[in-house]
Amino acid sequence: MKFNVAVISGDGIGPEIVSEAKKVLDKIGSKFGHEFTYTEVLMGGVSIDAHGVPLTDEALETARKSDAVLLGAVGGRVGVDSWYKLPPNLRPEAGLLAIRKGLGLFANLRPAYLYDELKDACPLKESIAEAGFDMMVVRELTGGLYFGERKTEEIDGVMTAVDTLTYNEEEIRRIAIKAFDIARKRGSKVTSVDKANVLDSSRLWQKVVNEVASGYEDVTLEHMLVDNCAMQLVKNPAQFDVILTENMFGDILSDEASMITGSIGMLPSASLAAGKFGLYEPSHGAAPDIAGQNIANPLATILSAAMMLRYSFDLDKEADAVEEAVRCVLKDGIRTVDIMSEGMTQVSCTGMGDAICERL
Ligand code: IPM
Ligand code: MG
Repeated sequence: MKFNVAVISGDGIGPEIVSEAKKVLDKIGSKFGHEFTYTEVLMGGVSIDAHGVPLTDEALETARKSDAVLLGAVGGRVGVDSWYKLPPNLRPEAGLLAIRKGLGLFANLRPAYLYDELKDACPLKESIAEAGFDMMVVRELTGGLYFGERKTEEIDGVMTAVDTLTYNEEEIRRIAIKAFDIARKRGSKVTSVDKANVLDSSRLWQKVVNEVASGYEDVTLEHMLVDNCAMQLVKNPAQFDVILTENMFGDILSDEASMITGSIGMLPSASLAAGKFGLYEPSHGAAPDIAGQNIANPLATILSAAMMLRYSFDLDKEADAVEEAVRCVLKDGIRTVDIMSEGMTQVSCTGMGDAICERL
């Protein structure tokens, strides 16, 4: 089969890690008889440099016309890179928000998994790490505080800022359905996270999630307050299968979930629209401090490409092969510097891409 992938290399280590993911896709292509073509799209700082905005309409259109989008990372150093002298709506990260909204990517899937081989990197107590964990944070991505009305103005001589948190039942229903569908293919449990003891939007969230749950008798649902969830993630992460939550809570909890894996360089993510279209990117950022040194860990981007094979192209066998190759590489003791430990073999970013390809 033929697939047209829009590639957003972006800033910092973006170009390095994306090129390893493309290498892996091409290997999959030759092994399984598929053809991947790539269309470069500018977003983030590189787009600001070229066009003065973090995402042009043309770039968004090119992405929209593709079969899926592979993204490296965008952004730079606040206070160092000139991009951050621009107003907030013209900074690199604004490109990310614009593409999420513009492509209708409402469902953000962020797996957090503790690899056996990397248990030592887990910052939690040994007894907790021993139990392991394997969860999927399903974060609503195009609503809530991120996209509500905002303004800053002086009222009676006092500077006042307002951000609005809005959700309608349709936005909640479609993300809840995604979470339940995903839970069905995993551990059949959904933990829906909200702040229903304070927020109206959370009370509507609970009501709609309960309605959706009634169509999924085989999936267990529990509701958890967000502050409690933050505690439970470090106390007993093994209890979670799918965490379903709104945009802002998901931003925070997904960082916490990734931190406890001890290896943020390993975590992929998918942002899905209705249907098969999606954008795939590592959970980590652009890491400008190590850019251009060929030492970044490309595994999160490679695993994001695997998610693309699975969710956008329905190529489960191919996705399994990539994920298995990652496990093999870890078993064989091959490590980039961020996950290096005694007795292992350290490789570069390109060395890691090659090691994956050799095992495919
Ligand atoms: C993320 C990031 C973004 C977000 C930022 C860069 C706008 O933190 O993808 O989690 O808050 O969504
Ligand atoms: Mg975040």
